[in-house]
Amino acid sequence: MMKKGLIASICMLAVCSFATAGFADTKKGEKIDGAKEFKEHCAVCHPGGGNIVNPKKTLSKKDREANGIKTAKDLIKNMRNPGPGMNKFDEKTLPEKEAKAIAEYILKTFK
Ligand code: HEC
Repeated sequence: MMKKGLIASICMLAVCSFATAGFADTKKGEKIDGAKEFKEHCAVCHPGGGNIVNPKKTLSKKDREANGIKTAKDLIKNMRNPGPGMNKFDEKTLPEKEAKAIAEYILKTFK
């Protein structure tokens, strides 16, 4: 009886520490979700990749490329130094990693 209880509590402990270890792991290697970041920072003005402020400058590939924005680097440059009517996203509001995740999201989502 005692033994069974002991084994059970050891199991519980193991499960518990395994769970927290797993949690710590995901925290450490924190994956940035480009879609989520986009929603948070950009979707107010660019819902669905559009542009409610200046409808001629959507995030579609056609519009972007017409304005010379072709790569993730170009997109990040645009966030750091945007045109009129768009918020400026500096390193403080949008760290490089997040800006990159958003850029990649835009490139693969809005064609
Ligand atoms: C307050 C509204 C607003 C927010 C927020 C906003 N934008 Fe913009 N965005 C604009 C406007 C207005 C323009 C057109 C600026 C211009 O005339 O060059 C624009 C232009 C762009 C362009 C160029 C599109 C083209 O066809 O030339 C890109 C790329 C872009 N935004 C990306 C983003 C990203 C990424 C975010 C979030 C990090 C963001 N924007 C947040 C308003 C916004």
